[in-house]
Amino acid sequence: MFHLSQESEDDWWEVEALYDLCFAPGREALSSYRLRDGVDPVADLSLVARDGDQILAGAIRFWPVKVGDNTALLLGPVAVHPTRQGEGLGAFLIRESLSIAKDLGWDRVILVGDAPYYSRFGFVKLDDVVMPPPTNPERVLGVALVDGAWTNVAGQVIRLSDTPKSMG
Ligand SMILES: CC(C)(COP(=O)(O)OP(=O)(O)OC[C@H]1O[C@@H](n2cnc3c(N)ncnc32)[C@H](O)[C@@H]1OP(=O)(O)O)[C@@H](O)C(=O)NCCC(=O)NCCS
Repeated sequence: MFHLSQESEDDWWEVEALYDLCFAPGREALSSYRLRDGVDPVADLSLVARDGDQILAGAIRFWPVKVGDNTALLLGPVAVHPTRQGEGLGAFLIRESLSIAKDLGWDRVILVGDAPYYSRFGFVKLDDVVMPPPTNPERVLGVALVDGAWTNVAGQVIRLSDTPKSMG
């Protein structure tokens, strides 16, 4: 049995250590991290999963980003401890956080990941949305939390605090 709760300040380094364990070294060099630099994660959606002994088993964080004039949620990192993978915890974290996001009024979610895994949560390839390079376009996926939320949403994904360069 796993219990989900909102990540607290005290959880931060434990979650970082879990991500270090689960991802390849140098994860923070990934281009998606440039969208997170200097921006706080969305607290309501950053969840930790602990077992009955309070051992951290999994975690998920989200960041706000912009796609053109539209705000979106960037899902990730999400990770489950290697000894706890394949028990449905990743799905639990993703489904629960997406449900909270929808309740909070978020419209759309984007991530960089494996379509064979994320398609079960409704994620599909976003053909017209461009993540910072180098990102494999096949791995740029999105889900609409309200019908049509990705319709006519296209362009570069940028950090929330960055404003598009003026053409003039
Ligand atoms: C990806 C991850 C979060 C999934 O968590 P989990 O608790 O193991 O996943 P679930 O138990 O909900 O689902 C397991 C299923 O997903 C499949 N799966 C897991 N990762 C997958 C991937 N990258 N591509 C395709 N399928 C995948 C498993 O084969 C399993 O399939 P089954 O249901 O047919 O048996 C976890 O494996 C993990 O932390 N991986 C390392 C970090 C990572 O890659 N994070 C995602 C970055 S995009």
